[in-house]
Amino acid sequence: MKEKIKIGMIGLGGRGMGLLRLVILNMSDVEVVALCDRYEDRQTKAADKVEEKQGSRPFVTIDYQEVLSIDEIDAVIISTSWADHIDIAIASMEAGKYVATEVGGAYSVQECWRLVEAYERTKIPCMILENCCYGRDELMVLNMVKQGLFGEIVHCAGGYQHDLRDEIAYGYENRHYRLDNYINRNCENYPTHEIGPIARILDINRGNRMVSLVSMASKAKGMKEYIKNEKSHDSELAKLDFMQGDIVTTIIKCAHGETITITLDTTLPRYYSRGFTVRGTKGMYTEENQSVYIDGSHDHYQSWNKNWGNAEEFREKYEHPIWSKFLEEGVQGGHGGADWLVLADFFESVKKGTQTPLDVYDMASWMCISTLSEDSIAMGGHPIAIPDFTNGKWITRQ
Ligand SMILES: NC(=O)c1ccc[n+]([C@@H]2O[C@H](COP(=O)([O-])OP(=O)(O)OC[C@H]3O[C@@H](n4cnc5c(N)ncnc54)[C@H](O)[C@@H]3O)[C@@H](O)[C@H]2O)c1
Repeated sequence: MKEKIKIGMIGLGGRGMGLLRLVILNMSDVEVVALCDRYEDRQTKAADKVEEKQGSRPFVTIDYQEVLSIDEIDAVIISTSWADHIDIAIASMEAGKYVATEVGGAYSVQECWRLVEAYERTKIPCMILENCCYGRDELMVLNMVKQGLFGEIVHCAGGYQHDLRDEIAYGYENRHYRLDNYINRNCENYPTHEIGPIARILDINRGNRMVSLVSMASKAKGMKEYIKNEKSHDSELAKLDFMQGDIVTTIIKCAHGETITITLDTTLPRYYSRGFTVRGTKGMYTEENQSVYIDGSHDHYQSWNKNWGNAEEFREKYEHPIWSKFLEEGVQGGHGGADWLVLADFFESVKKGTQTPLDVYDMASWMCISTLSEDSIAMGGHPIAIPDFTNGKWITRQ
């Protein structure tokens, strides 16, 4: 086992800088030796931060292949825009580097297969950095499910329900990729924040799998209205019709009969929520009002609002061990600590030379939802088969 590892970071926008500043530079067992971004100002800003914290200036480049050619690098973190994740992940595996990539959706099923095939050829682990799998509530609910509190799980739901109108509308000023995606595509473009925790509950790729989906998109009105009111001076943008529907609903069917509903809801006014919901034969959890409902245990099921927030009462008994330890040691890092936990788990695998906790099959099957939903929407909600990236191994994989 290595005591300390050396890493390279590719993609230094908002997320890359956040991970660097709030997590990685506070980890004593990780040294950042190379940084890469298409923009020189972002390279410089990140290199300054690394030098300030580590005392040594990392190598910087605009070409990620130069990062991958550095022998001493053990692992790379990819936090680029979505369209480059898979190509860089494949190149990283080919170069023998452990790879962790930020979340996003795929643009074709073929690129997901190329990703899986690169892993099977090189055997270099590749992890999707799905921090929501490490959220405190998501892990508590996982623990409840595994201890049978909700009985047999029948249905789960979740969403990426985040008002991003500002981020999208100012995409060109901020050199951000979402704007072009929203102008040109119509799909469930960000499925993994909700699919990740649900996949763990339903043992996806480890005894179960997602078999097919249907997707429907609403009309696209939110961005146009927002731009009219907030950015009418941008005459080019104000003229545009967006392709991306305001609300995209996708229903997924699993091999063992469960259904999953996921919702993309990013261009209308709303509060933030991932709408995480788990329904079983003995009870349910829902994030919307932070409630746990157990069959036969409550008098007031018809006036449930008195019980909103009762999930806290289950905390002591069902807190996930990962979180009990984290709370004891002191929570650190962004997104309530989830960013710290996901990276710490990845780096632990790198140090030990073992498989990563979320693997290439998870990444391919979660990311492919985007491109499959695009096909389904284009055909009026037609059912689409979800590939089995494990080629049958899901039946016996642990
Ligand atoms: N897990 C989370 O909670 C979370 C939060 C925010 C963003 N993200 C994810 O992080 C990723 C980045 O998001 P962001 O908001 O920082 O985007 P961003 O546009 O601010 O940053 C992306 C950066 O990648 C660089 N880049 C793109 N292609 C490149 C290439 N081939 N070589 C080198 N650099 C390249 C761009 O120049 C840009 O600076 C996305 O996948 C996003 O979904 C995850």
